[in-house]
Parts: sequence; C-alpha cells; structure tokens
Amino acid sequence: MLKESCVLEEISSSLDTSIPHISIILAAGHGKRLRSHLPKMLYEIWGVPTVVRVSRAARKGFATPNEIVVVGMKWKEVAHTLGKSPHRVFVFQKEQKGTGDAVKIALRAIPEDFAGNIYILPGDMGLIDAKILREFREAFEKSASQMFILTGEYEGDLRKNYYGRIVKKDDEVLEIVEYRDILSLSKPFTIDNHTFTAQELLNIREFNAGVYAFGHEQLRENIKKIKPDNVQKEYYLTDLVKIFRLQGLRVGAQKVENPSLLLGFNDRIVLKQMNNIARKNVYDKLKQIVTFEDPDDFFIAEEVAEKIIEMGGKEPVDITIGQGAYIGGGVKLSPQVVIGKNARLEGNVTLQEKVKIGDEVRMSSFAHQEIRVGRNTEIFWGDVIKGNVTIGENCRIESWVRITGNDEYPVKIGRKVLIKGNSYIFGCIIESEAEIEHSVLNRKKIKVLRDEKGNVKRIKYVLPPPEGEEAMEDLP
Ligand code: UD1
Ligand code: CA
Repeated sequence: MLKESCVLEEISSSLDTSIPHISIILAAGHGKRLRSHLPKMLYEIWGVPTVVRVSRAARKGFATPNEIVVVGMKWKEVAHTLGKSPHRVFVFQKEQKGTGDAVKIALRAIPEDFAGNIYILPGDMGLIDAKILREFREAFEKSASQMFILTGEYEGDLRKNYYGRIVKKDDEVLEIVEYRDILSLSKPFTIDNHTFTAQELLNIREFNAGVYAFGHEQLRENIKKIKPDNVQKEYYLTDLVKIFRLQGLRVGAQKVENPSLLLGFNDRIVLKQMNNIARKNVYDKLKQIVTFEDPDDFFIAEEVAEKIIEMGGKEPVDITIGQGAYIGGGVKLSPQVVIGKNARLEGNVTLQEKVKIGDEVRMSSFAHQEIRVGRNTEIFWGDVIKGNVTIGENCRIESWVRITGNDEYPVKIGRKVLIKGNSYIFGCIIESEAEIEHSVLNRKKIKVLRDEKGNVKRIKYVLPPPEGEEAMEDLP
C-alpha cells in the first residue's frame, strides 16, 4: 500500500451504510493559479477553511455523516485540517487525472452492494450552504432523473466564464461542454439534431457548479465507461451525461437562485470577493436585530450569528457591534450587549445582558479556559482580559486594566466591584463591592472593609519600592 494511503487510513473512520446517502468531496487538486504553498481548499472564508465549510454543508444538506474525501496534492494538510470524524473516509488520488478518475477512486471505499445515493461536490466551493444542498437533494429524490446536476446562471463577463456549459432541451440536460473543449472545436457541435457554433456554446449562461447526485449502482456501472478523449486528456465526470443519455436514462438539473454562492476561487481577488459575500450574508441575517456601526467591517463567527438569530426568535436582542470588532466562535452574547470598536473577543467568552465592552478591548481564553462577565458590567477602553476570569454583575473595570487568570490561579471578581484604570491583576479573588485604586495585585484575596460611616475602604496597593536606584541618575 502507498505510504499516503496508510497514513490516511489512520485518520479515516468507516461509513455507516445503513444511512442511504454518501457524499464525495473532491479535494485532490491544488489550485496552481493562487501561487501559494497553501492548498486552495485550506484558504479561509469567513474564518473557516473552505474544505471544512464544504464538509459541514454536505453533512447537513445531504443529511448524512458519510463522507469520502479524495485528497491528492497536499493530502496531509487537507486531511489534518478536516481531521478524524465519525463516518469520514479519506482516499488518495496519486495523479490528478480528472474529476471522473477522482470519483472512481472514491467508489472503492463504498461496498458494491450499497443501495443508496451518492452526492458529489468540489472541495473548493467556499460559500455553498446546507440549504442549497438540501434543496438539491430533495429535488433529486422527487425527480425522475438518474443523474442530477446543480447549476447556476452566470452573471458576469462571459469571457471570464470558465465553467462547463449546460446544454439543455426543456428541462433535460443533453450535455455539459467544458470551456477549453469549446475553444478547440474545429466544427459546429451537434447534439440531438441541434447544432451549436462555438460562440453559441460560449454564450450559454447556465453553468455546471460541479455538484452531482446519482444512484450508487448506476454511477458505479457507468463510471468505467469514461474515456480521456478531450483537450485536457482528463477523465471528465461530466461525460456521464452523454453516457447516461445513450442508455435512455434521464439527466436533470436544479438551478440555484443566487449563483454567487456557487463560486470557487482561482485567485486572491475572488477570494476577497467571497469573504465580502460571506460578510454580507451574515449582515443580512442579523441586520434586523443587531446594530452594526459599519456593515463592511466586522467579524462574527457564523455559529455566534446563528445563536443570535435563535435568541432573536424569543426576545428582543438589541446588540450593538462596533466597527472592526471581531467576535470569534466560542463567544456567547446576550441581549443589549454593546461591543466597542476594534474589540477582539476570542475563545470561551460569555457576556451576560447589558455588558458593555469598550473600544480596543482584548478578551481571550484557551479552549479549556473561560471568561464570564455578569449583567451590566462595563469593561472600559483598552482593557486586556485573559485566561480564566469571572467578573460579577454591575462592575466597572476602567481603562487600560490588565486581568489574567491562569489554570492554577483563576481570577474571581464579585458583584459591584470598581477597578480603576491601569491596574494589573493576576490570580486574585476580589469580594463584592470592593474598590481598587490603580494597583498591582498579584495572587491576593481581597475582603471588603468599611469605616464607621459604612463606606468601603479603598484598596491601593502599589509595588514595593524599586531596586537599583543607586545605578541611575536624572538627566539634566
Ligand atoms: C469542473 C467541471 C466543470 C465545472 C467546474 C465547477 C469537469 C470535467 N468539469 O471543472 O464542468 O463547471 O468543475 O467548478 O468535471 N479534482 C480532484 N481530482 C482530479 C481533478 C479535480 O480531486 O483529478 C477536484 C479539484 O480539487 C476540485 C474539483 O475536483 O475541487 C473540480 O476540479 P477542477 O479542476 O476545479 O475542475 P474544473 O476543470 O474547474
Ligand atoms: Ca473549478
């Protein structure tokens, strides 16, 4: 066995063939045109590597955890990014001989008598979502077609349309013609008594998105018949249209409403556009319940956005997000929370109702740590809060404060605590209602003492006097 296949076997699980669907993700190509060491599939769109997005969409949309991922170039990076997961299987395609060849290799991982459906999709469609794939699957299941293709209507400059063209009669697909094969046509192209010139084919706007559905048996039977007789000398999966039709089988298609969600990218400009589309999608979903200071400049991880939408179904949300704010995947927001400009929240951070996070604040924890901030608490400008930190309700943490709690010494701050600006706090436990002046506190437990009038005695604890003073003198 190839070395690659051995390594891949270790991070593969097994298929659950009692579930009647299997997805095949084609991820063996590299994306040469990006001129990068990073394979195309691993570029992030809205914070998530493209191939991970495709896999998530496929699992949900095709209603199956069964997934075969074909890897080739940069197989190690792609496989480790996706990682081991129940019912995910990796297979190795040594040479990129075409989409038909890639699928043939994937089919080796499926028992011959599997009686369900196979869904195929490219690993570089960073904006595809579960909804499109679910509707595609449902349309296939209802259709009388044996092969089903996802298509879109090309909206841009036709000269830059490199997709395979869908040749149709009524709603039946007659053929998919690859862009490069159109360019090399020496005579008009005839199919079913229709003749097309090369220009007529190029002018077809309906394109092949590269997503297909088949019954397993028919796919297995016919994939053997694909031959590499085209300009690229590749095994084209798209040749199955012809092969199915020759046997009187029907090939259908489902066209999506929003073709920008089918985009793949070959260069960094399109990658940027896709990120912008992703941002716009998140913005559109949230704009009724969240106030954005700048709709073109923010990041909210999709899982956080989904939780906000869920929350919005039950109660008013009224969250405000500052320009340039970054809200990572583990953050939990509550109604009426305000996030300042350029604030960056990463890791497990939970903010209760009406918490106010100032501009430029940084909050971060490792995966096993947690930061919690209670109702109504204000975290002022420029604060940095890291590690294991709990802050109670109604506190005021003024500007430029540093708070760090590690695993051994977490920070616990009670209710209604005031911490004045520029303080540094590490590993402390601070009782409710304490008031702390500009202080440096290292592993202290702080109780609240009151004078005769009941006023809280403020804490002001400065570092011990500096050492080595004799080695320095004032400059004139
Ligand atoms: C393919 C389609 C084209 C469609 C387009 C959509 C064919 C012949 N053409 O073209 O009609 O409009 O996708 O994006 O299928 N891959 C492998 N192994 C291979 C070759 C490709 O895993 O040997 C993977 C790639 O990594 C990629 C996907 O398959 O994720 C599509 O391959 P790509 O080379 O991008 O296909 P296109 O030529 O763009
Ligand atoms: Ca492509």
